[in-house]
Amino acid sequence: MEGALVARDRVGIQDFVLLDETSETAFMDNLRKRFTGDLIYTYIGTLLVSVNPYKDLDIYNRKQMDIYMGVNFFELPPHIYALADNAYHTMLTELNNHFILISGESGAGKTEASKKILQYYAVSCPSTTLLDRVRDRMLVSNPVLEAFGNAKTLKNDNSSRFGKYMDIQFNSEGDAVGGHILSYLLEKSRVVHQNHGERNFHIFYQLVEGGEEELLRHLGLERDSQHYSYLVQGECANVPSINDRNDWKTVRNALQIMDFDESTMEHLFGVIASVLHLGNVQFEPDSKSYASLDTDAELGWVSKLLGISAQVLQEGLTYRKIEAKTDEVLSPFTVDHAIYARDALAKAIYGRTFTWLVGKINEAMENKDLSRKTVIGLLDIYGFEVFYVNSFEQFCINYCNEKLQQLFIQLTLKAEQEEYEAEGIEWEPVQFFNNKIICDLVEEKHRGIISVLDEECLRPGEATDLTFLERLEEKMGCHPHFVTHMLADKKTRKTLERGDFRLLHYAGEVTYCVVGFLDKNNDLLYRNVREVMRDSKNAIVRECFSGLEPDSRRRPETVATQFKSSLLGLTEILMAKEAWYVRCLKSNESKQPGRFDEVLVRHQVKYLGLMEHLRVRRAGFAYRRRYEVFLKRYKPLCPATWPHWHGVPSDGVEVLVQHLGYMPHEYSMGRTKIFIRHPRTLFATEDAYERCKHELATRLQAKYKGYRAKGEFRRQKEAATKIETCWRGVQARKEKDRRAWAVKVIKKFIRGYMTRKEAKTTDNSEYLVFVRQSYLNRLKASLPKTVLDKTTWLTPPPVMRETSEILRQLNMRLMVRKYVRGITPQRKAQLQLKVITSAIFKGKKDSYPASVAQPFLDTRISEQDINMKVLQMIRNERIKYSVPVVKYDRNGFKPRDRQLILTTTAAYIVDEAKVKQRVLYTTLRGVSVSNLTDNVVIFHVTCEDVKQKGDLVMQCDHLFEMLTKLSVVANKQGAIKVVQGSIKFEFQAGKENTVDFSTGQEPMAYKAKNGHLMVVSTRTRAR
Ligand SMILES: Nc1ncnc2c1ncn2[C@@H]1O[C@H](COP(=O)(O)OP(=O)(O)O)[C@@H](O)[C@H]1O
Ligand SMILES: [Mg+2]
Repeated sequence: MEGALVARDRVGIQDFVLLDETSETAFMDNLRKRFTGDLIYTYIGTLLVSVNPYKDLDIYNRKQMDIYMGVNFFELPPHIYALADNAYHTMLTELNNHFILISGESGAGKTEASKKILQYYAVSCPSTTLLDRVRDRMLVSNPVLEAFGNAKTLKNDNSSRFGKYMDIQFNSEGDAVGGHILSYLLEKSRVVHQNHGERNFHIFYQLVEGGEEELLRHLGLERDSQHYSYLVQGECANVPSINDRNDWKTVRNALQIMDFDESTMEHLFGVIASVLHLGNVQFEPDSKSYASLDTDAELGWVSKLLGISAQVLQEGLTYRKIEAKTDEVLSPFTVDHAIYARDALAKAIYGRTFTWLVGKINEAMENKDLSRKTVIGLLDIYGFEVFYVNSFEQFCINYCNEKLQQLFIQLTLKAEQEEYEAEGIEWEPVQFFNNKIICDLVEEKHRGIISVLDEECLRPGEATDLTFLERLEEKMGCHPHFVTHMLADKKTRKTLERGDFRLLHYAGEVTYCVVGFLDKNNDLLYRNVREVMRDSKNAIVRECFSGLEPDSRRRPETVATQFKSSLLGLTEILMAKEAWYVRCLKSNESKQPGRFDEVLVRHQVKYLGLMEHLRVRRAGFAYRRRYEVFLKRYKPLCPATWPHWHGVPSDGVEVLVQHLGYMPHEYSMGRTKIFIRHPRTLFATEDAYERCKHELATRLQAKYKGYRAKGEFRRQKEAATKIETCWRGVQARKEKDRRAWAVKVIKKFIRGYMTRKEAKTTDNSEYLVFVRQSYLNRLKASLPKTVLDKTTWLTPPPVMRETSEILRQLNMRLMVRKYVRGITPQRKAQLQLKVITSAIFKGKKDSYPASVAQPFLDTRISEQDINMKVLQMIRNERIKYSVPVVKYDRNGFKPRDRQLILTTTAAYIVDEAKVKQRVLYTTLRGVSVSNLTDNVVIFHVTCEDVKQKGDLVMQCDHLFEMLTKLSVVANKQGAIKVVQGSIKFEFQAGKENTVDFSTGQEPMAYKAKNGHLMVVSTRTRAR
């Protein structure tokens, strides 16, 4: 419906429910407007109204089918495909059975509509090769059944002369997996008689016109339909709108697709041909005016084609077997009687063959799989028809249409009424014409027309069509829908013949001529003929007549009663299913394209009850929708319901309509649906929705983009997590391996540790390697820093003791070497001097150890500080060393500061510019020092000359330095003595004194009372 709203300003309105006004004029206007625009379909809710355009419209192609597939019913313009698709999808979702009731009068387009639906399913349903076979067979069943069951009538060039109900079976996937056809009352009388302007069933003409030469020869047929009396009564064997030749090809092809083998086809065509030949069998009265055969030729063909001896056949056609107690008597026919028997046989053969054919087609379409299936039934039955002369057939057909109308009224009214009741909505019942009264008139037990007819048929005595009429007049006398010549008022009587009765059908008046009613209802075939047929060599005929024949004593059910019960069965079948309706309307009586016969259409609209249907649909409310659906469509119009309404849908709808400003009288809230009274209210809402849609589209787009991006993000995140997980797994496995390895290593380590003192084994070898390595590494970091450091050495593990010792020595040597390499020549010289010093004093003089660290200098007095005169005096001797000294006087031991200069040859005591004493080294006998810490030195000089100065007593701060230099310069190493106690010295030749040494608190030197020089020195600290 929403789709219809969108397109409402195109041509007319697509759904009558949305018409502002429900008048017939408005209805007709809309219908005409649309018809003129080639829009033949219009909805009344879900009911489809179709107007026959009598021209090919380009709306049944593959593209159109694609458009309608799976699309919401109301979203596209009305179409038979939309209805088919909707029924199909409803069936799939609700898993229930459906049927599509196609109704309308003859020529309104019912058969076309049913074909379109079948074609749509063939294309739209999923398919497999297996299913394609079934589907093809379903499709081709149509042309075959049409060839045998359709004929040209005054109303329709392809009028269905049988009723057809076809079930299409679908499996749960929606594949069309099988089909089944029920056929209803074929108009057999057409085989032997056609009204002016009508034809026999198509198949006869198709065979004669299209049959291959060879086939025709075989069947003894001539290619000329004029030749056959069964084909010429209507005087219109050839019609421009029908191409029998092409149709023949189609039928042959179809039979092949349905797996009819050659012999079956031969037999089938044999039956058709035999009927034609039978029609040409003529009788002549013999001398006793009994019937005898005119010529044998035609009978010969019949006998050949049916495989029955001509003799027997002839007997069957001209005699009647009468059972008289134990005997059988043959009673000859009059000519009329013989013709009657001949026609009865032709009808019987054709009628039964038709039933056989339907059975055969059903076999071909049968689905043997027993799984659960749902079905869509297609009902295409002969439409209501009124001819100039109407007979028993029209009576049955129109009765059938009454029944379907009754079904329609019941279903639609009931459904509608139930809906209001179920929804708790108050409504005014709509007045409509209920045709039950007519149905009852026809079918009521004991009182209906059929009962009266049956009674007449079965009644002993002389029952005729006219007595039947009389009985009717008796019984129905005052029925408002029944009139006869006798019962009618003056005015009506003029329009009625004496042998007529008139029924006021729902669709209009029909005057039936009673002639033939009894015969047709009896449909008698003489028993001997039946028996003859049972022996036929034609398999089809044999099969058709070999069924259990009803008890010969009991009369078979009459045709009308059979038909009545088959319709009852059909009603039951339909009532158990969900109904969909297609109401076909004829646009004009002359089959002209583009002509819209206002009166004719209005009449159909009226009797089909379309107006009532429309009013009921609108019963106060033009529009209804389930809350969910309404809310889903219009929720963008209210901020409270957009984008989601979280409460109950009905509350959401209430909020929504309040927001839209609906007035209380404009709508009503049912239990599950909202009902909207006027279309304009809905249009306003729809218009608002249209405006809102664009804005919505943008929003949706944005949302969707966001959604996509989010999805992509989530995907990436998931991927990342996955990778992470994998990576963690890899790492954990690595870690596990590492730990296992570590455990092994540690175990081995511990085992190694425990056996570390044993001989090298596999258990401890690695441990020992580790111990060695670790020891060496630690050792490397803690090597002694200096040569002198002899205590620092890492204690080795037992296995390394020897190595450690070697290493220690190597290291020592290395350090020594490094040290030695690092010594300068000057330092070397000095050290060499120190070595000399050591040799002389080490362990002898107490102050020596303290002096070791004191470096020696080259000299203690630079040459500038030596007086020029002195320098000049000793110029030729090179000065090797000078040092300040304190010289003690020889007598009083007064200390005098002097310079001691050592040259290559002598030592000089210098006081300023004066050389006080020159001691040649050769005269230097010895040098003495004490063993204490004092700095007193005594030079022992050889002195023979008294005048010459004697030994020198001096104090020198750089005692060891000076003495070492002296020992080197003068080569006096051996002459230097360290003396304990006192030292004697000669201060003059022959004159001696003594220097005493002692220790005390403070160092000092003084002349003691004994005249000795007393030198006190501090004690060295104990070492
Ligand atoms: N939808 C249609 N489009 C074109 N022509 C149609 C359509 N429906 C019916 N006709 C024409 O009307 C004729 C009668 O239609 P048909 O379906 O046989 O009528 P019904 O079965 O109701 O008696 C068809 O042969 C065809 O020419
Ligand atoms: Mg039809």
